[in-house]
Amino acid sequence: MLAGKIIRSLLVFLFLCTSSLVAQQNRVIVNADQGEYTISRHIYGQFSEHLGRGIYEGIWVGEDSDIPNTEGYRTDVLKALQELEIPNIRWPGGCFADEYDWRDGIGPRSERPKTVNTHWGMVTEDNSFGTHEFLRLTELLGAEPYISANVGSGTPAQMQDWVEYMTYAGESDLANLRRQNGREEPWKIKFFGIGNESWGCGGNMTADYYADLYRRYQTYAKDYSGNELYKIASGWSNAEYDWTETVMREANDMMDAISLHYYTVPGPSWENKGPSTGFGEELYFEGLKASLELDRYIEGHATRMDKYDPEKRVALAVDEWGVWTDPLPGSRSGFLYQQNSMRDALIASLSLDILNAHSDRVRIANIAQTVNVLQAMILTDGPRMIKTPTYHVFHMYKVHHDATLLPVKVTSADYRYDGESIPAISTTVSRNKEGVIHITASNTHASESQEITFDLRGTDIDRIIPGRLLTADQINAVNTFEDPDNVSPVMFDDATISNGTVSMTLPPRSIVVFGLQ
Ligand code: AHR
Repeated sequence: MLAGKIIRSLLVFLFLCTSSLVAQQNRVIVNADQGEYTISRHIYGQFSEHLGRGIYEGIWVGEDSDIPNTEGYRTDVLKALQELEIPNIRWPGGCFADEYDWRDGIGPRSERPKTVNTHWGMVTEDNSFGTHEFLRLTELLGAEPYISANVGSGTPAQMQDWVEYMTYAGESDLANLRRQNGREEPWKIKFFGIGNESWGCGGNMTADYYADLYRRYQTYAKDYSGNELYKIASGWSNAEYDWTETVMREANDMMDAISLHYYTVPGPSWENKGPSTGFGEELYFEGLKASLELDRYIEGHATRMDKYDPEKRVALAVDEWGVWTDPLPGSRSGFLYQQNSMRDALIASLSLDILNAHSDRVRIANIAQTVNVLQAMILTDGPRMIKTPTYHVFHMYKVHHDATLLPVKVTSADYRYDGESIPAISTTVSRNKEGVIHITASNTHASESQEITFDLRGTDIDRIIPGRLLTADQINAVNTFEDPDNVSPVMFDDATISNGTVSMTLPPRSIVVFGLQ
């Protein structure tokens, strides 16, 4: 494994030595003295639904499992997720949330009812992972919980009871039930979603009907014992701007955020999303191009929000995003299990750049989903675990958590394919609380390297802090249980600096992070 890593590093080094001779040219002007917005660390949130092997097997195996575990959570997965410094996790769904009865998931595990997960494979849900297990997970990860509450099939009273159960410090039957179930102190719950995709799996509602229901349900999502809920209304996806407009018009003063979902589908249609492995340049290009659509959708929803909230008090919560491909052949129907490639790492970096760039409105986002589902950070197979290329992107982008977004003007070369083109580079530049500037940059081109100069204005920098580079020999390269480090970062110290201008060459299909001081 070590020999493989050394060979990979050597290949990347050789590539960097020769590639500047044939590279395309790009320029980024960074106005380092004009940063206005903070990149909320909550943009780097995760989403873990009761879906397929996402929670059961992927995170939770129970204390009696042969798989090494910590209080029932897989130790390998826990450790890998801890390294990501996850700011928040959304749970229990997704579509699952709008049929979830929180009372099924409390009390002795052996006595919990068995229910049917009607959305995802009609499998038996034994409810062994419930409120206590989720909230303990967030503690072990140092993440804020994001509870997605049931509006579709639940009542306002059920919602209110759940909040009281979790957060009330005083004397009440529900608070005492929590104590009886092993938790003396109330939890702090921050993010609280009122319904999920209420236009679809969450109740098939119209915007007007949901806006009324939102007003009603949020009334009973109470702040107990000093806890303050950050209320998130259910939004739509893609270009469905009218829903956002209606819900904002009717209820913006009663919410902290409204959600937006956007899934990148590389294939020609929802019915034919394309495979997650073995694809060629067409689905590589189409995947990257589709991920860039997020920018205009955020723009469109934010413009509607501006009408009712020009001060930008209400955030846009992009609480489901990521690449959605056809399931891996042989995987169980309804489990949404897919591989994760170098292309998907780039879809992650491009999407994160877009989310960061909209930090004035976007203050929370959740990639779908953490383990074994859709664009996962981690895949597991029995006792084995691998980190995906997307995991590495989230690790590299940690430098932007709560840093100040520095405005950039990008002049990019084109990546042309079959008569169409997308920008060959994408970047985020930020300054952290210690004054260190961090650059993340991606080269989307399948086969050409990019020379990039970063012209830093309004700051004195004279030192480059080496970083890491993620690339692969193929656009569709993946990590497997046999070759877990096939796509993994190597050290990067090839940028040079002269008179405030940083120059570097990025190999094809690659992502870099480094610092400046
Ligand atoms: O992430 C999978 C599903 O996609 C979620 O349950 C739902 O909200 C969305 O349609």
